[in-house]
Amino acid sequence: MTKVLIATDKPFAPIAVKEIREVVEEAGFELGLLEGYTSKEELLSAVADADALIVRSDIADKDVIDTAAKLKIIVRAGAGYDNVDLQAATDKGVVVMNTPGQNSNAVAELVFGMMVYHARNFFNGKSGFELKEKTLGLHAYGYVGKNVARIAKGFGMEVYAFDPFIPKEEIERDGVKWMGTVEELYKTCQYISLHIPANAQTKRSINYALLSLMPRKGVLVNTARAEVINEEELLKIFADRDDLAYLSDILPANLAGFQDAYATRIFCTPKKMGAQTQEANVNAGIAAAKQIVAFIRHGDRTFQVNK
Ligand code: 3PG
Repeated sequence: MTKVLIATDKPFAPIAVKEIREVVEEAGFELGLLEGYTSKEELLSAVADADALIVRSDIADKDVIDTAAKLKIIVRAGAGYDNVDLQAATDKGVVVMNTPGQNSNAVAELVFGMMVYHARNFFNGKSGFELKEKTLGLHAYGYVGKNVARIAKGFGMEVYAFDPFIPKEEIERDGVKWMGTVEELYKTCQYISLHIPANAQTKRSINYALLSLMPRKGVLVNTARAEVINEEELLKIFADRDDLAYLSDILPANLAGFQDAYATRIFCTPKKMGAQTQEANVNAGIAAAKQIVAFIRHGDRTFQVNK
């Protein structure tokens, strides 16, 4: 029998697992579940007899792919697939997909949760400030960026976006101001929200030079990936400019370095939780299950990312 394995270090909400199970079993497949595992060995052992794998930020590297002798498809239930070794998958004829857009509202809402929490002095009772009429720059305008723009309008923020892969007209159609260069975006906006993937072009690209362009009281919000930040240079600009703040859904490698020196200018969620809502889990999980069924049944390769 075809076996679909959900392997999630950070488990989906139970309702999502229930609904994924329904999709999988209705197709006549079997569901395996490995949640909250603590070692790679557990993952290797669980994946050994799987035909299909659903993961979140879980590392699906060459070992995992090579161990799963029957594996035909990996679906990353989410947007970023930098955790999957695409080359190893391609070499073994394994199709890799993501589920674009399915968890993006959850991530976008967290952006505002963090911005309000910071603007109100981490809810310590002292007078803070409002987001209304502040400038917000979206560094990339994909599904999450679009949702952030939509919510920002409700807050009365002035929204700008830079994305070399999205046509100017598409950005302007949403009432967002188009920026032609990344430098222009950082110069213009008090808040910058990162929505870029982690890849060879973007890794460590958020550096001193870029951040030094930000206006006074600049706030960098990172719900994207830790790897896009040049952490040493972020620390350096924190030392040189006492007006900047960093709000992140991903812990910096040198968390202690930031927190000891800059406790009032940094906030990090203890565990990446942007996409951790019931709705996002259900949407991304069901999409992943349906994509697996459609691929195994009909060879449907929509959303394949290792073409
Ligand atoms: C994504 O790329 O979809 C988000 O970063 C969410 O990741 P998660 O599924 O590990 O929470």
